[in-house]
Amino acid sequence: MKRIGVLTGGGDCPGLNAVIRAIVKSASVKYNYEVVGIEDGFDGLVLPNKTRVLTPWSIRGILTIGGTILGTTNRANPFEYKVTKDGKSEVRNVSQEVIKKVRSLGLDALIVIGGDGSLHIGCELFKMGCPVVGVPKTIDNDILATDVTFGFNTAVQTATEALDRLHTTAESHHRVMVVEVMGRYAGWIALKTGIAGGADVILIPEIPFDMGKVCQKIAERKKAGNRSNIVVVAEGAVPIGGKVSILCDSALDGSAERLGGIGHKVGSCITEAEVRVTVLGHVQRGGSPCAFDRILSTQFGASAVDLIAEKRLGEMVCLRGQRIESVPLSEVAKGQKKVPTEEGLVKTAESIGINFGR
Ligand code: F6P
Repeated sequence: MKRIGVLTGGGDCPGLNAVIRAIVKSASVKYNYEVVGIEDGFDGLVLPNKTRVLTPWSIRGILTIGGTILGTTNRANPFEYKVTKDGKSEVRNVSQEVIKKVRSLGLDALIVIGGDGSLHIGCELFKMGCPVVGVPKTIDNDILATDVTFGFNTAVQTATEALDRLHTTAESHHRVMVVEVMGRYAGWIALKTGIAGGADVILIPEIPFDMGKVCQKIAERKKAGNRSNIVVVAEGAVPIGGKVSILCDSALDGSAERLGGIGHKVGSCITEAEVRVTVLGHVQRGGSPCAFDRILSTQFGASAVDLIAEKRLGEMVCLRGQRIESVPLSEVAKGQKKVPTEEGLVKTAESIGINFGR
């Protein structure tokens, strides 16, 4: 009987529990494997007493629940792990300890459900001999080699519902509503939400924007008799020649800087009408996964167990068209999946008059 570990790393997103459920069910029903849940991401492989056996009984009812029953953190990179010694903080490489822990738990494989950061860590651990299999998650949809990640469609749905609500109040007050959505390096949420929610301007990290062009668009719409404007801004959007807006710098433990503030900056530059700014923030990460994400999560979880059974370690499950496939983790660690700016949805959006600040 094989024993497999599972952890959720990085920011949470809707569908994590659905993946965990599918792993436990498939391991039990199809293979008779035992599953060990590791708590709080890679912290669970560094700190004591953070593992528990997951049975089909213990995962009952979690398909529809947001977040992760295992807990997660984006501050536990084993290669840059923050420890406190004699009252002082220092950063250590604890990757060998993590590998020893995986062995001492008797794990034949470790499923890492994570975004680009966690999958990169998984890839490095695999190179050191740890039997890792990856499952891609993030609301940002910026992971290479998969058409889509689970969590993304739920986030787009949540943000679109927010736009629907903002339209009516914007129209009543003749206002410009600026909506800041998540998306650090890629503007997938802003792009799809903007199109689905009928935005007039969409600003994404892939297209540095000219504020003059944004204001011109708003002025033209006003002249044509439009009473309101919706501007969707990804948190990682950057003005031409400017810098990304940061709330907090990177922390000592290597965790990423916190983005935020671009919505207010854009709002303060618009003088054509009264402006209100909404920052959607973590609302986009919470709540129950939509049907698409529940299905994709189930496919990813079950396929990750199949990869282990087929001894295809060092790979990540992915969606290509309608098919669940797999790719080497090393392919995923090469960068981020950006929005193409000269084809596809951006061009469709421009053809119906949506402005990207260019
Ligand atoms: O990567 C997912 C994400 O939601 C980003 O869009 C966002 O910048 C970040 O996580 C926020 O992280 P935290 O939960 O640490 O604020």
